[in-house]
Amino acid sequence: MNYHVLTLFPDMILQGMHTSIIGRAMEKGLLTLEAVDIRDFAEPARKRRVDDYPYGGGAGMVMQAQPVYGAWEDTVARIGRPVRCVYLTPQGRPFCQETARELAKEEDLILLCGHYEGIDERVIEEIVTDEISIGDYVLTGGELAAMVVMDAVSRMVPGVLTNDQSGVDESFSEALLEYPQYTRPEIWHDKPVPPILLSGHHANVDLWRRQQSILRTRERRPELLKTAVLDKADRKYLAALQEEDQHLVP
Ligand code: ADE
Repeated sequence: MNYHVLTLFPDMILQGMHTSIIGRAMEKGLLTLEAVDIRDFAEPARKRRVDDYPYGGGAGMVMQAQPVYGAWEDTVARIGRPVRCVYLTPQGRPFCQETARELAKEEDLILLCGHYEGIDERVIEEIVTDEISIGDYVLTGGELAAMVVMDAVSRMVPGVLTNDQSGVDESFSEALLEYPQYTRPEIWHDKPVPPILLSGHHANVDLWRRQQSILRTRERRPELLKTAVLDKADRKYLAALQEEDQHLVP
């Protein structure tokens, strides 16, 4: 996977992406990343300025179409064929595991980061193939959102995760939330580790973990239970929880 990020803050992107699993994947050549500075494509007379007042008035500044177009055109010319261009915006399609998996199939991805009050609509219409939001809140720019997307997509690129790390997320939309984890020491701040985890009885540990996942999902994200893949034992456990609740009603 080759990422090409069009941004006003190239250092932010480069510094943010060179650590841990993603950094190692870059060293291994499984991922490449370039940050294209949109200011390099400003009109010469504007001395690297790329924003201007909005037509119609209103607060804030708008990124001009031409520098964004120039950065995109230069990038596509270097890649040598048409590629998807993802614009990070709160107005986009909500980002999820399924989208990460789908984007991971691409060989190259252009990610466009906006700033100020946004980007001139005309260039968005011309170059953007996907608009993605990472949540219902407004960031100061698209860079953090682009990094979130690249992190989640990179995990889905074959070879980026070791065998040990993979498999936990095969399908978030069909899955449950993770069970709680514990490590040494056995007692911390008077809190013991759940005894079953020390029993050495693998089948019981697996059952306990599965039930914790169901319990957590039911408490925190009940809507996920509608699409979760549940077997007969899972459904029996859920029914028992339901039953328990009914007995609590006075
Ligand atoms: N840019 C600003 N806020 C954003 C968000 N929530 N998602 C994606 N891009 C953004």
